[in-house]
Amino acid sequence: METIKNYVESHKARFLEELFELIRIPSISAIKEHSDDMRKAAELLKDSLIKAGADQAEVKSTSGWPVVYGYKMIDESLPTVLVYGHYDVQPVEPLDLWDSPPFEPEVRDGKIFARGADDDKGQLFMHLKAFELMNRTGTLACNVKFMIEGEEEIGSPNLKEFCRQHKEMLKADIILISDTTMIAQDIPSITVGLRGLSYLEVEMTGPNRDLHSGLYGGAVGNPANLLAKMIASLTDENNHITIPGFYDDVVEVSGNERAEMAKAPFRLEDYKKALDITEVTGEKGYSTNERTGIRPSLDVNGIWSGYTGEGAKTVLPSKAHAKISMRLVPNQESKKIDALFIDHFMKNAPEGTKVKVKSLHGGQGYVTPINFPAYRAASNAIEQSFGKKPIPVRSGGSIPIVSDFEEVLGIKSILMGFGLDSDAIHSPNENYPLFNFYKGIETIPLFYRFFASEMK
Ligand code: BES
Ligand code: MN
Ligand code: MN
Repeated sequence: METIKNYVESHKARFLEELFELIRIPSISAIKEHSDDMRKAAELLKDSLIKAGADQAEVKSTSGWPVVYGYKMIDESLPTVLVYGHYDVQPVEPLDLWDSPPFEPEVRDGKIFARGADDDKGQLFMHLKAFELMNRTGTLACNVKFMIEGEEEIGSPNLKEFCRQHKEMLKADIILISDTTMIAQDIPSITVGLRGLSYLEVEMTGPNRDLHSGLYGGAVGNPANLLAKMIASLTDENNHITIPGFYDDVVEVSGNERAEMAKAPFRLEDYKKALDITEVTGEKGYSTNERTGIRPSLDVNGIWSGYTGEGAKTVLPSKAHAKISMRLVPNQESKKIDALFIDHFMKNAPEGTKVKVKSLHGGQGYVTPINFPAYRAASNAIEQSFGKKPIPVRSGGSIPIVSDFEEVLGIKSILMGFGLDSDAIHSPNENYPLFNFYKGIETIPLFYRFFASEMK
């Protein structure tokens, strides 16, 4: 532990400067114009893998954004850890809500502010620096592979195929991922559940052109009104989702397990205060953490129609659109839910309108066991560096590729995330506390050490 702490202490400033270089590259996977930036970010990561001591690293092309792959094999008889992370980030809009430019990282109040500061550049970079540390101090206890993708934020459309093609190359005993959160700096936790996802886009068309809302209003179906009504009917008064068959594959979590979950520290008052809301809502009969951890949900992510510019324009729009996502629990099949949603939407389209629904992306949920070597190694590592045993927690977020890893590669993942809910990932002013960044770098080498001894 002393060796680790000393190394981190004496290289702190450089670690941060190097992370800033990565953050300054606006690698937004959703926007095609950033193609050069995607390449640049991938090359930078390849170079830093080599500098940190990898035997080899390369930028591998896919039919989308490239994957960075690198490794260091020290001894065939030792276990192999495959580190997964993503170098792509979410778009930054609305720009005017940022207190400093998203790709000009700066430290304020002990936090790094920038797009990607946490998700996932900050968290991924801890692994590169921990790898460097273990190499420089001669303490690397496992073989290491890195697979860093550039398409996580757009649903990893090419990574499953990449895994199929490189099954042998990616052989490992465990996949280690830091791309999730913990409860608080003094309440460490390990994510043991991720939700699945179905993400669709709906277009409703009424009249063949935008109409004068005085001449036609009240006489012609307005797709904006009608779409809003349809969306409202997707949940009932108990916030149950009304799509027939939606709950068929949902596994009810046992009373015992729910009681266990309820022991995790949580204060509803603080939760509401942090979001500036006076009330929470959700499915009747479930607590806030249950609503995100073990129950599915449905949300509009974007909705647009008609005139949205300055001032008023009297118009009855021809079309209305919405992007709708459903978070799923582990046994629900994303493709099946897509089909149920599309069927329901088409069947219930109001008379006189035309409806188109397309599926954008999705994937399965995931549950990690807590009684296997990698979980014990992560738990021991965190306990040693944070001074407290971490609590297993089911997260509401999704990393759909994790279940594909298990399906294609046959390898389980451990979600040792160091982010906080207050890091505002995907939002303006995304941030990552320096404390978490450096603590993560100290914790990761302990994982390798405990994992190697678990696997002996
Ligand atoms: N790192 C997040 C997922 C996450 C964050 C899980 C915090 C648990 C806690 C990841 O980058 C992400 O944003 N995933 C997307 C899914 C994807 C298909 C766009 C999500 O959850 O919306
Ligand atoms: Mn992420
Ligand atoms: Mn994300």
